[in-house]
Amino acid sequence: MPSHDTTGNQTRPGQRVTELDTPQLLIDLDAVDRNVRFLLAEGRRRDVHVRVHFKSLKCTGLARYIAAAGPNGFVCAKLNEAEALADAGITDILLANQLVGPHKLRRAAQLARRSDLTVCVDDIDNARALSAAAAAEGTPIGVLVEVDIGMARCGVAVGPAAVDLARAVVALPGLRFRGLQGYDGHLQMIADYESRKAQSLAGAEALVATRRLIEQAGVSVEVVTGGGTGTWEFVASVPGVTEIQPGSFVVMDAAYHRVRPEFARALSILTTVVSRRPGRYVLDAGSKAISRDFGTPELKDRPGDRVDRLNEEHTIVEVAGDGPSIGDNVEVWPTHCCATMNLHRTCVGARAGKVEVVWPIECSGRYD
Ligand SMILES: Cc1ncc(COP(=O)(O)O)c(C=O)c1O
Repeated sequence: MPSHDTTGNQTRPGQRVTELDTPQLLIDLDAVDRNVRFLLAEGRRRDVHVRVHFKSLKCTGLARYIAAAGPNGFVCAKLNEAEALADAGITDILLANQLVGPHKLRRAAQLARRSDLTVCVDDIDNARALSAAAAAEGTPIGVLVEVDIGMARCGVAVGPAAVDLARAVVALPGLRFRGLQGYDGHLQMIADYESRKAQSLAGAEALVATRRLIEQAGVSVEVVTGGGTGTWEFVASVPGVTEIQPGSFVVMDAAYHRVRPEFARALSILTTVVSRRPGRYVLDAGSKAISRDFGTPELKDRPGDRVDRLNEEHTIVEVAGDGPSIGDNVEVWPTHCCATMNLHRTCVGARAGKVEVVWPIECSGRYD
């Protein structure tokens, strides 16, 4: 079926991507296949579940495509993402975040009616409010106690504070205590492998030590989850961790590729050269289409050319020799895949340079 982009242009399966209007977000499905197959096999080898973070995708078509490979459910950062997954028939969902306020709690309880939902808490009053919402809706909600293992974002301290909160959650009606989350987000991009490894292992071991304290208090712990694309192998190697929750590994980006070259860069923005002069050329996409929050992007097939800067609708590239001609296509690798997915409304899944599918990115630009 042809799909219309926002300008009314038609994109058809089988069409060459070079025939598409630009800018166009592209996903190389062969690269996605390799990334997902690799990590799911590594998870099985280590007897650790791989739960894929949907905040990197925001597109239920891509999530369903990945779901066919058999991950252990999905993680979301926001309720709208979890609702979109449930609408798409994906119901094993961890909302790895705190939900605060009556609107969110009601939505969570309603979502739990049609999904196997687990959410994070790091505060007893918030846990009580979640319990009341679950009881009012008559639907149990799974709960992980979030533990701060060094990121200094959400989470209670490792050790006794987490034990106290876990015991309190166990006593609340409507909630099902399932275990612990500890995410080492501060370590993901550390360039030095050994330093990243040592710090990530220390964080995961502190998380598992907290698990043992909770078990000693007579509470069973079914889930211990954490880790991202930068730390997956370290977190997955610690006995007592049951699950990793990376997201960027699916489509990847130029920044993560520097620390995780085992994953291929599947995400690019197809652009057109719209201007040139000696030493430089200009692309028809800028910061409104290509996130630069982890640095300037790279060019897929032109490694010698250097991105000088991004304006809102232009990327300015410095080139040593002959650059491309006006009208030529250049593919751009963004440095932050999650934020780039969030800028687009559709993406084209392509294989060997041909369109296979066009998916809406339902959750882009949504923060609720
Ligand atoms: C709670 C949580 N888990 C896991 C991740 C890992 O995501 P990624 O693999 O894209 O770094 C993130 C990233 O923001 C996160 O916030």
